[in-house]
Amino acid sequence: MIDVIRVAHCVLYVTDLERSREFYVGLLGLNVLHETPGALYLRGVEDREWTLKLQLAPEAGVRHVAYRVRGEADLDALVALAEARGLPWRWEEELDRPRLLRMQDPFGTPVAFYAESRTHRWLLQDYHLHRGPGLQRVDHVNVMSPDVEGTMRWYMDELGFRLSEFTEDDDGNVWAAWIQRRGAVHDLALTNGTGPRMHHFAYWMPDAMSIIRACDILAGARMPQAIERGPGRHGISNAFFLYVRDPDGHRIELYTSDYVTVDPDFEPVRWHLDDPRRQTLWGARTPRSWFEEGSLLEAFEGGWVTPREGRLRGLPVHVI
Ligand SMILES: [Fe+2]
Repeated sequence: MIDVIRVAHCVLYVTDLERSREFYVGLLGLNVLHETPGALYLRGVEDREWTLKLQLAPEAGVRHVAYRVRGEADLDALVALAEARGLPWRWEEELDRPRLLRMQDPFGTPVAFYAESRTHRWLLQDYHLHRGPGLQRVDHVNVMSPDVEGTMRWYMDELGFRLSEFTEDDDGNVWAAWIQRRGAVHDLALTNGTGPRMHHFAYWMPDAMSIIRACDILAGARMPQAIERGPGRHGISNAFFLYVRDPDGHRIELYTSDYVTVDPDFEPVRWHLDDPRRQTLWGARTPRSWFEEGSLLEAFEGGWVTPREGRLRGLPVHVI
């Protein structure tokens, strides 16, 4: 079995690098690890590698989402898998990551895998250098999928992901799934919707107060419109959360306080589609934009993956 360790980074296309720098570095306090004329490589204070690359481009979108694997043999096994399944793949190079396997999953999502990365001294206990709300480490990615169950099965069967929680209706249709490799609630979440598109990329936060501080910082900067949903507590994952939108509309989640899933007898948590506590434990409603909007994904040969409407129609309960 291919040994995926965890979700590792995301490359976002942004249309104005200075505007994005002000948002991600100036307000959210992410740390610049490298800088080139057309890109910023950012990390949280616990990240030993860059975890978010902002790349200047004519249009906003997502270049790829990357996972770290244990070793070179896992990359070779991924190439064999791509060949066997007819999935497009190629070797690429990224800063600090000399051997990056870029492929497209069977549903159109651009994914990359690497084993080796140059690491850097972390900033976790350099508290005097922490800025803004103190984003700590990469946590997960959420992809909107027109076929949640098929996508979930592929990642579980081919890449060894394990199911933590899922949302189901009375007919047994899976509307959303949270799957993981590293023993937290999820590395990858899949939610039913027009896609594939990226719904959000998430950072772990030190505590709930740091998430509230992010709200205060955005309000102080006269940018309350960047706060899309929350703060609140999810029923699913039990996490305290906030969703913000960057200047290009990319959605970032600030996330903390979920639980571990390492025990071999862990039983996935099932939620009924009609249970409003799964979205926000406190019953708060969710804005429609949260269900409908997402970032386009780059196709393997360039251009954008054309999103398809979700197999399951309708919005879940409790929408504003
Ligand atoms: Fe999330």
